[in-house]
Amino acid sequence: MKKGLFITFEGADGCGKTTQLNLLKEYLEQKGYDVVLTREPGAKGLGVKIREILLNYNGEVSNRCESFLFLADRAQNIDVIVNPAIEEGKIVLCDRHTDSSVAYQGYGRGLDIEQIKTLNNLATGGKTPDLTLVFDVDIETSMKRVGNEKDRMESAGTEFFNRVRNGYLEIAKQEPGRIKVIDSTKSIEDVQTQVLNVIEQILK
Ligand code: TYD
Repeated sequence: MKKGLFITFEGADGCGKTTQLNLLKEYLEQKGYDVVLTREPGAKGLGVKIREILLNYNGEVSNRCESFLFLADRAQNIDVIVNPAIEEGKIVLCDRHTDSSVAYQGYGRGLDIEQIKTLNNLATGGKTPDLTLVFDVDIETSMKRVGNEKDRMESAGTEFFNRVRNGYLEIAKQEPGRIKVIDSTKSIEDVQTQVLNVIEQILK
C-alpha cells in the first residue's frame, strides 16, 4: 500500500513559513515525489469564502465565532483535500493547521486550550500531522516581513504576537516527536537547510 505524508507549517505572522513551503515543494518534486499544497484558512472553494470573512470582515467577531470559522474550514480542508491526497500516497504540505487554533485562539485570544484541542479533534476526525515545523521569529523580524499592509489577524498587536509565539514554543515542548522548531530569523538559505535536515529524517 502507498503511504502518504502529512506535513504542517506553523508559526506566528511573518515567520517566513510560506516561502519555505514553496521551496520544499520544489525540492521534493525534483526528487520525484508527488506533492499537494494546501492552506488554512481557505485553500479552495468554500474555504476561500470562509477565509475572506476571517481576514477581511470589519464588524465585530466574537472569539468563539472566529474559532468555529477556522474549524469549519479545517474540516473542509481535511475531507476534501488532505485525506484524498494522502490515500493516493502523496505528500501534503499544509500552511497552518490545528496548532494555529491552539496558538492563536488559545494562547493568543485566551480561550480554553483543552477545549480547542477537543474541537480540533472533531474538525479533523482524529487525523494528525506526521510532522509539524514551527518557524520561530521575534517581533522585529516579523514586522519587517509583514510590512504595512496588515489583515485583521496581523493587526492584533505586539502582546498578542508574543502570546502566539510563546504558545507555539510551549506546544513544541509538549510534543517533541511531532513538532520541530526552526530558527526562522536566519536567511532563507539557512532556514531551508534546517528544514531539509528534518525532512531527510522523516523520508528515510
Ligand atoms: P494568512 O494570510 O494565511 O497568514 P500567514 O501567511 O501568516 O499564514 O492568514 C491566516 C491568519 O489566520 C494568520 O494571522 C493566523 C490566523 N489563524 C488563526 O488565528 N487560527 C487558525 O486556526 C488558523 C488556521 C489561522
